[in-house]
Amino acid sequence: MSGRDYRDYVNPVVRNMPPSGIRRFFDLASEMSGVISLGVGEPDFVTPWHVRESCIWALEKGYTMYTSNQGLLELRTEIAGHLEGRYGLRYDPKKEILVTVGSSEALDLALRALVVPGDEVVIPEPCYVSYGPATLFSGGVPVYVGTGVTDGFQVTASRVEKVLTPRSKVLLLCYPNNPTGAVMEKKNLWELAELAAAKDLIVISDEIYDSLVYGVSHLPLAGLPGLRDRTVLINGLSKAYAMTGWRLGYAAGNAAFIEAMTKIHQYTMLCAPITAQMAAIEALRNGTGSVARMVREYDRRRRLVVRSFNEMGLYCFEPKGAFYAFPDVSSTGLSGAEFAERLLVEEKVAVVPGGAFGPSGEGFVRCAYAASLEDLAEALKRIARFVGRLRRPAAPVGLGALGQA
Ligand SMILES: Cc1ncc(COP(=O)(O)O)c(C=O)c1O
Repeated sequence: MSGRDYRDYVNPVVRNMPPSGIRRFFDLASEMSGVISLGVGEPDFVTPWHVRESCIWALEKGYTMYTSNQGLLELRTEIAGHLEGRYGLRYDPKKEILVTVGSSEALDLALRALVVPGDEVVIPEPCYVSYGPATLFSGGVPVYVGTGVTDGFQVTASRVEKVLTPRSKVLLLCYPNNPTGAVMEKKNLWELAELAAAKDLIVISDEIYDSLVYGVSHLPLAGLPGLRDRTVLINGLSKAYAMTGWRLGYAAGNAAFIEAMTKIHQYTMLCAPITAQMAAIEALRNGTGSVARMVREYDRRRRLVVRSFNEMGLYCFEPKGAFYAFPDVSSTGLSGAEFAERLLVEEKVAVVPGGAFGPSGEGFVRCAYAASLEDLAEALKRIARFVGRLRRPAAPVGLGALGQA
C-alpha cells in the first residue's frame, strides 16, 4: 500500500530513541580532511602482535566452528585465573563466567536477564551513552544520579539513596568512568556496597577500563563485603588489550545470574567468535607486558592533556583512569556543543560535547587521549589557538568593517 509510513510498525521504544549524541560529530568529522580526532573512545594501538598471531594460528589449524554457548572452557578458566590473580575474586569457570560478544553484549544480557518491565535502573551520569538506551530496550526505567567536579565525578551513597523507590532494582556503575576518567575512592565504594546490600539492589559493574588506571589501584565492586553475589561484573578485552574490533567481552557473577544471561545469549547469539576467543586466551595469558606498555603511554598523554587544558584556563579535573580528559569549557561562554562544533569547523579537532553523556556533562567536553603524542600536541596547539581567539576582545566595529572591504 502506497503512502504507508513503515516507521509506524517499529516498536515505539526503538522509534523514539534519539541517535547517539556522539554520532553527529563522527559524521561531521568524517566528511572533513585534516581532522585530528579526540572523539573516539578507542585505543589507537593495534592489538599486540602475539595476540594477532595466535588468531592466525587458530585459523590455520581450522578453528572455525561454534564453541559452547558459555565460551571455550579454556578461556573461561583463563578469565577466572585473571580475576583471581588480579583481585582475589573467585569464580567457577563452569557456572559463573559467560563469554560474550564485547562487554556491550554482557551489559545487554545482564539488563534483560534481571530487569522486569518497570524496574528502575539507577545510573550515575555523565555516563557511557549506551546505558540509558540499553535499560529502555530491556523494559527498565533509567533513573539518573548526577555527579560533578566537586565530588570528583564519583557517585555517593547518599545521592543514590535519594532517588531510590520500591521499584529500584539495579545500580549500574562504571568506574573507571567513561566519559570523566573518574575512579572511586574506597570510602565511597564501601558506602555504596552497604547501601546496595541494605536496599537489596543488584549491581551491574562495567569495569571495562579496570586496567587503565594511573597511580591508583582499581577496586572491583564484587570484591566488597556483601557484593560478590549481588554484582554482575562486566569486562572485556577491547580497551586494555586494544581489541575493540574483536568483539570479546565477559560477565562474571553468581551461577543463577550467569545461567539466566546464558539462556538469552544461547538463543540470540549462540557464542562469541571462536577466533576472538582463541586470541583472548593468548591476551590474558601473555599480554600483561603489552598492557603495561600501553598504560605507560596513556599516562604520558594524560599528563600532557590535563596540564595543557589547565594552562589554557580550562579547568581539567585529573582523570585517574580510562583514557578520557573532561575539561570544563564553560568559562569560554560557549556550551559544550557549541565549543565542540566550532572547534571542529575552525580548527579541525574533534571532541565530544559533555552533554552527550548526561545533563551533568553540560559545559564540558570529552577528549580521548587515545591518539599519538604528536597528534595530541598538535590538537592541543589548535585548541589553545581557538580558546585564545574566544578570549580575545572582539575587534572594534570600524576595523571589522574595514577588514571586510
Ligand atoms: C564504559 C564502556 N563500556 C562498554 C563499552 C563497549 O565495550 P566493548 O567493545 O567491550 O563492547 C565502552 C566502549 O566505549 C565503554 O566506554
